[in-house]
Amino acid sequence: MARRRVATRGHTVPVYQALAGALRTRLGNDPASLLDVGCGEGGFLRSLQEHPGLERHGMDISPASIELAAKASPEVLFVVANADRTLPYAEESFDVLSAIDSRVNAIEFERVLGERGLILVAVPGPDDLIELRERIQGAKVLKSRTDKVRNDLHARFTLADRMTVRESRTLEPPELRDLLSATYRGFRRSEQAAIEALTSLTVTLSHDILVFKRR
Ligand SMILES: C[S@@+](CC[C@H](N)C(=O)[O-])C[C@H]1O[C@@H](n2cnc3c(N)ncnc32)[C@H](O)[C@@H]1O
Repeated sequence: MARRRVATRGHTVPVYQALAGALRTRLGNDPASLLDVGCGEGGFLRSLQEHPGLERHGMDISPASIELAAKASPEVLFVVANADRTLPYAEESFDVLSAIDSRVNAIEFERVLGERGLILVAVPGPDDLIELRERIQGAKVLKSRTDKVRNDLHARFTLADRMTVRESRTLEPPELRDLLSATYRGFRRSEQAAIEALTSLTVTLSHDILVFKRR
């Protein structure tokens, strides 16, 4: 529900627009199928509703998330499954895989992707929510996940494009708490007091957008 509220307030729009732009640049309006891995409550798939000729699929390990996603998008095909295991799809089922703040599985991604296969990945940028993390953890820690994703996919996929989406928003405590829940940050017991004491704060929202092609 926290992720649904974050999406409804429009905080995910810049990332979804950047991913949709990469999709249009690479595929044009050719018919294509896309699987969003770790789709959560389905916000990215909903945002692609108007993309012409796109068959949309979503999978997530969380039945509660898939239920929310499926209720909002009955025309999309959803599956509850673990992205770290064998994916429940045949060889070369998809033209595009997306993973937003989610998992990548190089061996399985290679198996289920077709010849012109494309992977769209979004990971939090090093400075994502940095002001909020400083408030809660007491230090500005810059963390990048881009290199890990690149290394995980390296043997089978090459990085074809990369961009950063960054903006600043002033948010109220309930919105800040939702962002923390949505990104799994700041939930150690010792951090609870700081989370409860939050006041309005201007925060950086930043994501690295990575486009991978088959080698
Ligand atoms: C930070 S959320 C991002 C959700 C969605 N991509 C979005 O941007 O709103 C991470 C998602 O990955 C899912 N997830 C975690 N481990 C998973 C796994 N092993 N297989 C599939 N999904 C997983 C979680 O249930 C959650 O919905």
